[in-house]
Amino acid sequence: ARLVVLVSGSGTNLQALLDAIAADPEGYGAEIVAVGADRDGIAGLDRAERAGLPTFVCRVKDHATRELWDRALTEATAAYEPDLVVSAGFMKIVGKEFLARFGGRVVNTHPALLPSFPGAHGVRDALAYGAKVTGCTVHFVDDGVDTGPIIAQGVVEVRDEDDEAALHERIKEVERSLLVEVVGRLARNGYSIEGRKVHVGEHGH
Ligand code: GRF
Repeated sequence: ARLVVLVSGSGTNLQALLDAIAADPEGYGAEIVAVGADRDGIAGLDRAERAGLPTFVCRVKDHATRELWDRALTEATAAYEPDLVVSAGFMKIVGKEFLARFGGRVVNTHPALLPSFPGAHGVRDALAYGAKVTGCTVHFVDDGVDTGPIIAQGVVEVRDEDDEAALHERIKEVERSLLVEVVGRLARNGYSIEGRKVHVGEHGH
């Protein structure tokens, strides 16, 4: 399967995918064909360039409207003809055109146990709420924010001494391996989505 990965930051989820594919290029069942970002100068783009991958940047401020940004992101992504788009720490909400083009084939990873603590500060919100466990969720993207059908989740204990950074780092350890496992399974075994249920292994896609 052809993957386009979208990033906005350090790209450690991207790196985990790159490492898994490099470790077993035949068996993993997917290849990353390009990496896209919503901003320049991030480690995620450096990681892509070090891996010799094509990259593209679509900045909201370069476009007169959000819809035009969404169109640019859609076209830049479509140029690589992905089977699956992986949003790995991509911090923008994709729009109608992107979902019309790639809907049902966009996977996102979120550092909380959805539907708890959606949005841009899931780790901070879980900590502030006093949750005893939190974790990460890999899900398909729908037209909401962090609301699409859940594929897999991983649980992480919250410790009394945790601050946001420490907890997020511990979540990211689980998140990286969960994302690698899920993307590989989707790519190798195919999947279908019925309502909120994701079936991996039935060769829908
Ligand atoms: C991940 O925890 C992701 O869920 C969240 O931001 C982090 C991105 O990390 N949105 P990285 O860029 O993959 O290192």
